[in-house]
Amino acid sequence: MGLEIYFMEKVKVALFGFGTIGTGVAKILFNHADRITQATGRTVELVKICDKDITTRRDIELPSGVLCTDAESVFSDPEIKIGIELIGGLEPARTFVLRLLENGKDVVTANKALIAQHGNELFATARKFGRTIAFEAAVCGGIPILSALSTALQANTLQSINAIVNGTSNYILSQMESGKTSYRDAVLQAQKLGYAEANPAMDVDGTDAVQKLTILAQLGFGANVSWQSVPRLGIESIESIDFRYAKELGYRIKLLAVAECSSGGLELHVSPTLVKGDNPLARVRDAFNAVRIVGDSVGSVFFQGLGAGQLPTASAVLGDVIDTILGRTAITFRTLNLWDSAKPSIAIKSPDEFFGKSYLRFSVQDQPGVMHEISGVLGGLGISIASMIQHEPENKTNTKSTVLILTTHEAREGDLLEAIIRLEQLPALLGKIVRLRVQN
Ligand code: HSE
Repeated sequence: MGLEIYFMEKVKVALFGFGTIGTGVAKILFNHADRITQATGRTVELVKICDKDITTRRDIELPSGVLCTDAESVFSDPEIKIGIELIGGLEPARTFVLRLLENGKDVVTANKALIAQHGNELFATARKFGRTIAFEAAVCGGIPILSALSTALQANTLQSINAIVNGTSNYILSQMESGKTSYRDAVLQAQKLGYAEANPAMDVDGTDAVQKLTILAQLGFGANVSWQSVPRLGIESIESIDFRYAKELGYRIKLLAVAECSSGGLELHVSPTLVKGDNPLARVRDAFNAVRIVGDSVGSVFFQGLGAGQLPTASAVLGDVIDTILGRTAITFRTLNLWDSAKPSIAIKSPDEFFGKSYLRFSVQDQPGVMHEISGVLGGLGISIASMIQHEPENKTNTKSTVLILTTHEAREGDLLEAIIRLEQLPALLGKIVRLRVQN
């Protein structure tokens, strides 16, 4: 599979999507062709860049005839052996990848939404036509995490993956934590720096993170799970006050993607989480991503690097191009048999059965008996309080309401969610409860 064609001396490749990452790939291919030649022993030629917009000037001079709008002419060109899909989103990316595979080309993509949504169809098509799909850049940009999971860590049964996989939300949280920037300004800055998705809602509502988590779970645990079924909460409800209380408790707030294996199956979720200050994930700032993997033989391993941005992502794309040319992708692709619906998937735990600690922020009337009512609801559902904070009001004129922070010991998720419903019905409650997970 895929090995025979790359004995040629010159390998022609085409790029679809000439945005931020596409420009980065073109820069490396044109400005550092020697590196790719050294790694592959062949000349790799970027012969076509296909985009619907070929008039906007990019930050690179291209040889004439490279830019084009006619994707169909690229699919049908037998000289082109690899198609790099960097359009993003579902369509036309899905159709383009299928057309490339049907036309006998190997595919490299950075598109996690596409892989998470259409993995079964795309991988079945690749197998049918004897081609490969490489997608290192789809998860954590420049960190070679998929390569580690699909090769070096294969001798392990994994116990958990805890990761910061969305650079934009980590950047926003870092900016908010420093107290210099509002949520709104941090989102605008992330867009300007090229970290955010075309629709930044997907970064802040946890969609991007959950799509990456399902890809990690497929490689790490053989979980064939639809990303829509994985519980996710974004960072929109977090306020600057939460960073202050988190700090007081010895934590930082991170958007964590978690895959944890236990006897009941695999627990998967994306949630804003208070991470203990001495946990290496707590120290990951700005657009950096990080992945902590625990395997039965290797123990705990920690990867960190830039998860978004032009050149880190282009680095992963070109690593895949090199692996495809050398035949390494074909070997891993065949061995792992990913997104094969005929393969049994690991059992996925029902969200109600998750166990964990929580941080709860209440806005309440400051009057006798409120704490008693709250602890009564929690205690009635078997949820034990681990710590409590209430400060004297800074503003002496407002003594009628106050903020209460509670953290809980480990509790069953179904009970915790039921408690939140009941607590929000108490007359003393002055708004929604903010709930974050807590991890040591
Ligand atoms: N918007 C993504 C992020 C880009 O911020 O992590 C990389 O997938």
